[in-house]
Amino acid sequence: MRNIAQRVGIDIGTALYTLRFDDPQYLEVAAREFSSVTPENEMKWESLEPEPGRYTFEGADRIVDFAQRNGQRIWGHTLVWHSQLPGWLAQGNFSSEQLKTLLKNHIQAVVGRYRGKVSRWDVVNEAFNEDGTLRDTIWSRAFGGPEYIAQAFRWAHEADPNALLFYNDYNLEFPGPKADAVLQLLTQLRAQGVPIHGVGFQGHLSLRYGFPDASTLVNHLKRFTDAGFYIAFTEVDVRMALPRNTVQELAQAQLFSQLLSACLALPRCLSYTVWGFPDKYSWVPDFFPGEGDATPFNNDYTPKPAYHQLRLTLALSGGAPARVRP
Ligand code: XIL
Repeated sequence: MRNIAQRVGIDIGTALYTLRFDDPQYLEVAAREFSSVTPENEMKWESLEPEPGRYTFEGADRIVDFAQRNGQRIWGHTLVWHSQLPGWLAQGNFSSEQLKTLLKNHIQAVVGRYRGKVSRWDVVNEAFNEDGTLRDTIWSRAFGGPEYIAQAFRWAHEADPNALLFYNDYNLEFPGPKADAVLQLLTQLRAQGVPIHGVGFQGHLSLRYGFPDASTLVNHLKRFTDAGFYIAFTEVDVRMALPRNTVQELAQAQLFSQLLSACLALPRCLSYTVWGFPDKYSWVPDFFPGEGDATPFNNDYTPKPAYHQLRLTLALSGGAPARVRP
């Protein structure tokens, strides 16, 4: 896929998890098919600083090394989140001032270490609720509101002025109060000069729910690109009730490809990343009981219809508009 994607001018990525690195087929497919990689867990706070002041960059470094050896872009994930924080931080009873300092130091240590290597960062992850209100987290409490979002982007930009900085969230593919609130806040911050360059649409879909049709999706995403943001699909998977049948496989292929088509239709869409492979290594069965088979590859690494459909969508994209690139 990566060769066709390169001709089209977008990156096609995957999450990579070092836990799977002793599986040679995993590494072989990762290198062959994808032009971008996102550490699935290795750049989260709990992985990078399990004890105060003791940084553990080994896992993140292994992914960076793999990507560099294979000529792949590295998408950093994620600097500010409420989840997968180390216990010492989440249960630390720190004052607001202490938390602000901890956050600034964390962002600058991590972005600084990978300066020039990680070219896109998910700076803030999942800050909004479905109803469009700000999620109540250790960060929103420390700063007394959304100011932490602005500060996080400023600090990341200081640490690497060349990296593209993203706000990333789930269900943003769906028109509604959450997407509205994100667009509104980011537009406002940008107008104030906060260095926010793009919006990541995670793209965790389920066959259980309805999904916007192709033109609704493109029009929805276009609101973000019209506001001047780059966009990307950052964590695409399509889960289904198990065991699956042929119709589910084809429906999955169609949804995977519908998101890719929307990306291709919009000149400021930079990349399309799937959240891991093959099915047996996906996070889905652990988090959504009864659902699974969410990736484009079978457990034996043979391609599913979703894989073929993604390739086809890239190969038939001759009519897509020219890309806008940083
Ligand atoms: C998931 C990983 O895939 C799992 O391995 C981990 O146990 C939990 O996190 N949104 C995100 C990702 O931004 O970081 C999450 O990744 C999936 C949902």
